[in-house]
Amino acid sequence: KKSGNGNLRSPICCILGHVDTGKTKLLDCIRGTNVQEGEAGGITQQIGATYFPTDNIRERTKELKADAMLKVPGLLVIDTPGHEAFTNLRSRGSSLCDIAILVVDIMHGLEPQTIESLNLLKSRNAEFIVALNKVDRLYGWKKCLNAPIVKAMKLQSIDVQNEFKMRVTQIVTQFKEQGLNTELYYKNKNMGETSSIVPTSAMSGEGIPDLLLLLINWAQRTMEEKLTFMDDIQCTVLEVKVIEGLGTTIDVVLVNGVLHEGDQIVVCGMQGPIATTIRALLTPHPMKELRVKGAYLHHKELKAAQGIKITAQGLEHAVAGTALYLVTPNDDLDDVKDLAMQDMKNVMSRIDKSGEGVCVQASTIGSLEALLEFLKTPAVNIPVSGINIGPVHKKDVMKASVMLERKKEYATILAFDVKVTPEARDLAEDAGVKIFIADIIYHLFDQFKAYMESIKE
Ligand code: GTP
Ligand code: MG
Ligand code: NA
Repeated sequence: KKSGNGNLRSPICCILGHVDTGKTKLLDCIRGTNVQEGEAGGITQQIGATYFPTDNIRERTKELKADAMLKVPGLLVIDTPGHEAFTNLRSRGSSLCDIAILVVDIMHGLEPQTIESLNLLKSRNAEFIVALNKVDRLYGWKKCLNAPIVKAMKLQSIDVQNEFKMRVTQIVTQFKEQGLNTELYYKNKNMGETSSIVPTSAMSGEGIPDLLLLLINWAQRTMEEKLTFMDDIQCTVLEVKVIEGLGTTIDVVLVNGVLHEGDQIVVCGMQGPIATTIRALLTPHPMKELRVKGAYLHHKELKAAQGIKITAQGLEHAVAGTALYLVTPNDDLDDVKDLAMQDMKNVMSRIDKSGEGVCVQASTIGSLEALLEFLKTPAVNIPVSGINIGPVHKKDVMKASVMLERKKEYATILAFDVKVTPEARDLAEDAGVKIFIADIIYHLFDQFKAYMESIKE
């Protein structure tokens, strides 16, 4: 069902691309923040969300004389990880978006996760813009802070301009090999059939106004058909976090619909469906990343699209990566609960039925899926007998210790991005259960591989 005219929701823009192409840094540049430097290993391992009010975007594009009257309140930008382990999060991010930015490093051209992202976007029929990032790394580049790209390019030496042209030509050819026509956006006369390339620097800001302007133009063009507000709730849980003073909270992306304080909701839980009531609806300040702790604004109601922190009772065992459902007077609560548990069934079906295998524990269902996926690859091939989400407690160690009598090397917990309680650590030591902890997913893989090899010897 569609609401009244002129009722438009904010578009969602997803940022995708190979690891370290500068996705988070581009957002930092637009936000004036420093999220990237705070990340473990400098890699993104969660989906992020930032709300950009239209006024702010207009301000940043003013040099391009784009006085577009935007009818949408703003733009919600979703940051995704580029590391190969997080295919599921790229897939989830791209499934939420109306438009995307595919980031390519001008010095590297197309890389494996560029192609993977491209295929995801194609399969969803999503429109996207290519950001050809790190132009400041062209040898001899003269910085031109936050300048539109054509202006910045005119200031460069002939050598820089030639290297730029050569690299763009190569990358356009690489895209063609993937079946995609691309062209520098200011030369692109056929926006429908040819994707636009915007050269950018996340370090000195060249091309950022152009990138934002293209996003605005896209929103203007497709608003009526794509962005007309729907009443039905579409909402995904990104994270479950304990926040001092708030208790257990969930971070969600509201893709469509409206949420109110006091609404009854159902989310998927480790121990069954959680039916609860929204106590508070919080957002970070505009232009701040939801996944980074900060000051929150309170709201009586929030309209899509938004990244929201929800506080409510009983969220302790909520499972990140699953859908949030609203319960209306017309709904049967049990039906809604069944719906909410569907995602969990999908993950559970991946556990080894023989009952022999390691235990895997992660902070979100997304990272858990990434770990399970890796352990299943033929080169690794480690069976999993148990999974959990959240900190490692004594009961998790007890569960893993069952393997001591069956297959000793599987009496192991692979813990990704979660804490281990001191009691659990003591018990593991006494019982002989190995716990591997890492906050970078591939370090965990490496540690466990080394352990398996040491056992074989
Ligand atoms: P993942 O999220 O881990 O996939 O990486 P990412 O695509 O978000 O890249 P990130 O923002 O973490 O940047 C990776 C590295 O490239 C960091 O060291 C950045 O400082 C650097 N970097 C990003 N953009 C630019 C740029 O435009 N110019 C230069 N010179 N360096 C950049
Ligand atoms: Mg990143
Ligand atoms: Na990175």
